[in-house]
Amino acid sequence: MPAELMKQKINHAQEFIDSHKSSALKGHWRQQFHFMPEVGWMNDPNGMIEYHGKYHFFYQYNPFTPFWDSMYWGHAVSDDMIHWEYLPPALAPSEDYDNHQKGGCFSGSAIEKDGRLFLIYTGTYNNGDGFKQVQCVAYSDDGIHFAKYEGNPVLTAPEGYEEANFRDPCVWEHEGNYYMVCGASKDHLAQALLFKSSDLFHWDFVNVLAESYGDLGYMWECPDFFELDGRYVLLISPMGAGNRTAIYLVGDFDYNTGKFTYVINGNSDNGFDFYAPKSFKDHKGRRMVVAWANEWDWMPRWKDWGPTYKENWCGSFNLIREVKLNKDNTLSFLPIEEYQAIRTEGTERTFLEVSDIPFTISEERQACEIQAVIDLTSSDALQVVFSLKGNNEYHLDLILDLEHQMVTLDRNQADGWSRGETHTELKKHDRNNLTLDIFIDRSSVEVFIEDYHTVLSSNVFAADNQLKNTVYAVGGTCRLKKLKTFQMAVGE
Ligand code: FRU
Repeated sequence: MPAELMKQKINHAQEFIDSHKSSALKGHWRQQFHFMPEVGWMNDPNGMIEYHGKYHFFYQYNPFTPFWDSMYWGHAVSDDMIHWEYLPPALAPSEDYDNHQKGGCFSGSAIEKDGRLFLIYTGTYNNGDGFKQVQCVAYSDDGIHFAKYEGNPVLTAPEGYEEANFRDPCVWEHEGNYYMVCGASKDHLAQALLFKSSDLFHWDFVNVLAESYGDLGYMWECPDFFELDGRYVLLISPMGAGNRTAIYLVGDFDYNTGKFTYVINGNSDNGFDFYAPKSFKDHKGRRMVVAWANEWDWMPRWKDWGPTYKENWCGSFNLIREVKLNKDNTLSFLPIEEYQAIRTEGTERTFLEVSDIPFTISEERQACEIQAVIDLTSSDALQVVFSLKGNNEYHLDLILDLEHQMVTLDRNQADGWSRGETHTELKKHDRNNLTLDIFIDRSSVEVFIEDYHTVLSSNVFAADNQLKNTVYAVGGTCRLKKLKTFQMAVGE
């Protein structure tokens, strides 16, 4: 019986998790305030939703090894998005439309309808005539145990589209109808396709919501579409767009034509490790995004998934970020305010002059936040360098090149494992101040600059004694109006 098979596979996975998690939980690279699985491999966030008063996070999950394989949907719930309770996997590959050995239940969304929690996901299979991707539905009344819809799949690739590239449904409700956007590929160009339904089970094609003309790749993974203060935002994770792997488009959308036209094309993150962002809205009206803090092997800057497989886990999410629309239609991404509750001890210094002698910013902490404001009007340094997670041998460098208006995150000397550097433009929206908010966890650094307009995220697989954070100036002095630090600690 098919329904039985999913139950059996979930029970088996849960037994495996229970018997293997204790060793993985001891891993010294485990994050302290970022979401991650108990044991095994995790990639994309799937179906973040507030349901019956709790935040539910689902995720692409292989509990059995610290590598990608046949995907389950992992599941965890929280009251505050800081403390998490892990639940049994919500979905397991079990049907002939979602049981591909190197595939399974791919990414998707969650939506509540008439009190029920629905998961809309991509099933993957191959019956000997090629890799197929189809859209499927599962539902639950208790938010824990899910049943797959008997009529699955509910949607297959339209005529003329690659069946192996039709995935990651993003679903929402508008005026009593349901809408779905899927990533697709036609003639080797990426498209986001829009569908409409009155019941979540029967879908009609509406239009090509948006497409790449070559500039934005050949396939968009995990399209995410939402309204924000009267405008519309499409988040895409493009394959084939070079280093640009997390793009946002802002513009207007017409429900009558199903067409989205964008006026802004920006990067959701400019670092190494941020992919497949998924958004959701909560009862406070906040639009938040969660992303997978890693990369795929086809990305230009990918080296590997890091050494944490030695601790029997791989994958965490970036900080949960609230999305704000700026006056110029660009977006800013702010760490959600809940993180302020885990700040413990702090230090604050004002009006500091920094020279070429490294100034020690913080006490030695594995998890901390550093806020700084550089006074651009009285700093004549050519560069200001924040050297993070350092010891005598290693350090991750954030280089603010004030002369050439560039920001570089250099991880070549970060940990003896990671490699590469990323560059992005320093926009200097504010000519007087350059603000920074830096979040350091056990294995990651996330830098928010220029009032959260620009973000750079990177994993760092540091040794236990890489605890030093310093700042120094090159070719002049740098005046800091403010330098604030907090220790971050997740209590019970
Ligand atoms: C994006 C992605 C999705 C897919 C999933 C598979 O990271 O490749 O397109 O659904 O991961 O795990």
